Amino acid sequence: MDEWVLITGASSGIGRELARVFAAHGFSLVLLARDEARLKELAAECERSPGVKARVLARDLAPPNAADEVFEALRDTPVGILVNNAGFGFYGYFAESDLRVQTDLMQVNMIALVQLTHRFVQPMIARRRGRVLNVASVAAFLPGPTVNLYYASKAFVFSFSYALAEELEGTGVTVTTLCPGSTRTEFFTRANIHMNRPWPLMEARAVAEAGYHATMKGRRVAIPGWSNKLICALVKRFPPRLPARVVRKVHTPGPRQA
Ligand SMILES: NC(=O)c1ccc[n+]([C@@H]2O[C@H](COP(=O)([O-])OP(=O)(O)OC[C@H]3O[C@@H](n4cnc5c(N)ncnc54)[C@H](OP(=O)(O)O)[C@@H]3O)[C@@H](O)[C@H]2O)c1
Repeated sequence: MDEWVLITGASSGIGRELARVFAAHGFSLVLLARDEARLKELAAECERSPGVKARVLARDLAPPNAADEVFEALRDTPVGILVNNAGFGFYGYFAESDLRVQTDLMQVNMIALVQLTHRFVQPMIARRRGRVLNVASVAAFLPGPTVNLYYASKAFVFSFSYALAEELEGTGVTVTTLCPGSTRTEFFTRANIHMNRPWPLMEARAVAEAGYHATMKGRRVAIPGWSNKLICALVKRFPPRLPARVVRKVHTPGPRQA
């Protein structure tokens, strides 16, 4: 295929599995994250799929000019599918937290996602063909005390992506929002986020498969897993105070589940 899939946050977790799924379907890839060694290893693995090429773009999405630099670096690479997956969380009370980390979170989870989308949808609209997959979370539907800004960033991603899907209706470009629930990746360890929950983690591969199929069908929203669908449906029935209490309890340090 002559159009490429750009995947941010491809060095681990859901992004790495998305890369494997797209490669298995014959798509060539641009793999972006900070960890170049991991990206190169993944690129070599993906290139073992027939006809698949894989480029590595080792970039930090936290600096304000990151998205422009990515677009420049890919000026000669036709990106037909953009997957905004890079993101991270951070446990702690907002008022006591390091504002630099919170600012980086806003930059990576929201601003870089918006800037990359803005840059890459324009050539897609001109070609009248393209797909965007933005990774939000079940957290998009909940207030998130102690992981406040992360939850807020995912609510932003959901609202932005859904509205954009509506704006782009009829252009040939679709926007899909993937809302995973708790998934087995490096996310919780990196973020030092505790999860006291009665149900098991989903596997990143299953989440990636759901994201891939929803994207290729042009669906607006994909919520993988029945328990996550149930949470999203139930949460709308309660005043926000109750889910806020529950979320705070869920993240209150207790026995760690990896
Ligand atoms: N795991 C879950 O339970 C869960 C649930 C709902 C939504 N999500 C969302 O799924 C997405 C993927 O997370 P994951 O669970 O797969 O976690 P993960 O294993 O920690 O992967 C996060 C990815 O984002 C990249 N990344 C982080 N900061 C970056 C930066 N400054 N610049 C460029 N890349 C950066 C990381 O690569 P480098 O460190 O190499 O840069 C890594 O490839 C995130 O948006 C997350 O919010 C996860």
